[in-house]
Amino acid sequence: MALRQTLSIARSAATQQMRHQAVRAFSAAPAMRNAAPLPLLAVAGAGVIGASTLYAASPASSGSSYDLEAVRAEIEKTIDDEEERRGDGTSIAPTYVRLAWHCAGTYSKEDNTGGSNGCRMRFGPEAGWGANAGLSTARISLEAVHTKFPAMSYADLYTFAGKVAVEKMGGPTIPWSAGRVDFPDGSTSPPDGRLPDADKGSDQATAAHLRDIFYRMGFDDKEIVALSGAHALGRCHEDASGFWGPWTNAETTMSNEYFRLLVEEPWTPKKTHKPDPMNGSKSCPWKGPMQYEDKTGKLMMLPSDIVLTKDESFAKHVAVYAKDEEVFFKDFAAAFGKLLALGQASGSAAAAEVGFFGKLKAMIGM
Ligand code: HEM
Repeated sequence: MALRQTLSIARSAATQQMRHQAVRAFSAAPAMRNAAPLPLLAVAGAGVIGASTLYAASPASSGSSYDLEAVRAEIEKTIDDEEERRGDGTSIAPTYVRLAWHCAGTYSKEDNTGGSNGCRMRFGPEAGWGANAGLSTARISLEAVHTKFPAMSYADLYTFAGKVAVEKMGGPTIPWSAGRVDFPDGSTSPPDGRLPDADKGSDQATAAHLRDIFYRMGFDDKEIVALSGAHALGRCHEDASGFWGPWTNAETTMSNEYFRLLVEEPWTPKKTHKPDPMNGSKSCPWKGPMQYEDKTGKLMMLPSDIVLTKDESFAKHVAVYAKDEEVFFKDFAAAFGKLLALGQASGSAAAAEVGFFGKLKAMIGM
């Protein structure tokens, strides 16, 4: 690591340490402790020193450093243990990818608000947003990792888990660096509506919506398509989004299958539903939101996926990625790394102050 970068990390850690004093003093107040859904009041500053060791300062930490590779191993073990417990071919790893994306995807380049810094999605209002339904499973499972590595901020842990999950599922290496801090509450969360809806009623409206959402973060059409390729992984859950099913035949393997299926399959609106089509159980009418199905009824696409084949500017990238997994992996790695870093260095001091003084005012009834 260059000397200049090491010094700047040390400086940033020192600044964070000063912020901690205020937050630590305040976090002793019972009113604030009760406000957090989890014991998540640590504010951590971290930077990379050497290949895999991080220095971090956290008031919740008994030590002051952790080994990033040990964190990776723990995340991978958590994924393996959960897969074994489920035993049905599904995995929590795709949910880690979605958790990381929803942490960061609130960012706006217009005013530098939202983003992965702060990890505000642990608190209301973000934790309760419809778009974040189902993500508490991932947060709860990562809690055990945080208990082992309390010096790592939640904001770093959640984004790092997304990177590890993609890589463990055979995807490309995702650029990532430490340094996010945890904010003490959700008082600086941006307004709801910054994460994308899957359907705006027509292809044109859905395409325009995707552009509104992703251009606001600073992405272009190619990056929107590349990022959507994460839907090679995981599935929709009726009890979370209302949609049902996996996008691909190998939901725990990162590949360009999503794009190949988009191009090759004749996707039709879903009409019937077998709650468990793998077991050939009886069909009933589909009562969920509009989604598409393949001819077997086992795979799905959202309206926001299908629109990538309908809009000319999106479709040309779908065609490239369907043919060339290497290009997809390269573009996905760059775009996902950029996503995880959105807002990484933003608003720390302001947020800590707003949180601190906001809560203080609440306590003394102002
Ligand atoms: C383009 C706009 C997007 C829309 C409308 C969208 C919508 C959705 C919806 C409705 C679900 C199902 C959630 C559930 O029921 O559990 C989902 C799952 C998922 N999304 Fe997206 N998404 C978008 C972009 C992204 C991006 C950019 C990524 C990551 C780079 C991503 C990664 C995932 C993953 C991995 C899952 C599976 C989660 C699991 O298996 O638990 N999505 N998405």
